Amino acid sequence: MRQSLTLALAAAAVFALLAGGASAQSFEGRKKCSSCHKSQAESWGQTAHAKAMESLKPNAKAEAKKKAKLDPKKDYTKDKDCVGCHVDGWGKEGGYTIADPSKFTTGVGCESCHGPGSKFRGIHRKAGASFEKSKKTTPRKTLADAGQDFSFEERCNACHLNYKGSPWKGAKEPYTPYTPEVDKKYTFDFKKYVKDVKAMHEHYKLDGTFEGDPKFEFHDEFQASAKVGEKGSED
Ligand code: HEC
Ligand code: HEC
Ligand code: HEC
Ligand code: HEC
Repeated sequence: MRQSLTLALAAAAVFALLAGGASAQSFEGRKKCSSCHKSQAESWGQTAHAKAMESLKPNAKAEAKKKAKLDPKKDYTKDKDCVGCHVDGWGKEGGYTIADPSKFTTGVGCESCHGPGSKFRGIHRKAGASFEKSKKTTPRKTLADAGQDFSFEERCNACHLNYKGSPWKGAKEPYTPYTPEVDKKYTFDFKKYVKDVKAMHEHYKLDGTFEGDPKFEFHDEFQASAKVGEKGSED
């Protein structure tokens, strides 16, 4: 009896560990990211990504809606064919839901590009503390293993190249109404767009807490001209 109880407890512990491992890579919203990375958060707040939900409101961007044969008077903010690409983590654990919307996942935020942060942001905190204390660096690989994205392109594609006849192989419904066919200006060019600080955020100098691969292909280029920013802490 006692033994089977021990076994049951052990099984429960293993299950919790596995479930914890899976849920550890869930979306959390941008509250914590923003309190440590104040300058990026402020700059991001000025972008179209930050205001993406606004575009789904009635009468917003009326001309652009007419052009894509949408109804400018309609409220699309609760439409499941629309919100997925105008929020963080749609359909993913911890991500935005229509039933219980969080302001920290409304709009296209940090985790839509950098990956779901519940697990890797804790590594940022620890790595930051040991770098401050003794200049000890941490390999980027530990971040990648915890779900942080260092290539971005597939994430952008999932929203920007998701339409019928797209050159991107992953395309599936619901599609974006804004395709190159509607207007050439909607043609997505990753290498050009990812350098647009008005659409991502301004870049700020890093101390070099993390090193090694995988490093983003334009990381050094961005850092070479990065500004001096303001940091913060989780609290
Ligand atoms: C979750 C979906 C999503 C992801 C991921 C995403 N975007 Fe966007 N992006 C949007 C939406 C929606 C808009 C339009 C926002 C609005 O005006 O309502 C937009 C707007 C933009 C714009 C501005 C276009 C303009 O008219 O000024 C650029 C540039 C851009 N994205 C590039 C990127 C790049 C590069 C990536 C990847 C690093 C990326 N996006 C990731 C959904 C996404
Ligand atoms: C598969 C992802 C996706 C879906 C689904 C989606 N959008 Fe978007 N939406 C985007 C992207 C990406 C952009 C930015 C396009 C660009 O500027 O290149 C965008 C931009 C917009 C814009 C701004 C266009 C402009 O020129 O300023 C509006 C308005 C908009 N979407 C409304 C909607 C509505 C309404 C729906 C549902 C009927 C919808 N979207 C569904 C990805 C999506
Ligand atoms: C549309 C995509 C996108 C969004 C949204 C986004 N970022 Fe970034 N971010 C990038 C790209 C691309 C880089 C460059 C990566 C590199 O140089 O290694 C970057 C770099 C960074 C860096 C490294 C230092 C720097 O300034 O370049 C930090 C920190 C950062 N982002 C934090 C954030 C935070 C916090 C948010 C949300 C408030 C956010 N990002 C939202 C795309 C995005
Ligand atoms: C407790 C504070 C804290 C939190 C929370 C946090 N970070 Fe960081 N982050 C750091 C520190 C410290 C560094 C190292 C900065 C340096 O080297 O100057 C860092 C580095 C980064 C980098 C640069 C990685 C590289 O390639 O060198 C990115 C991108 C980033 N953070 C994004 C995020 C995102 C997105 C979130 C939310 C999911 C987040 N951070 C949450 C403290 C934090």
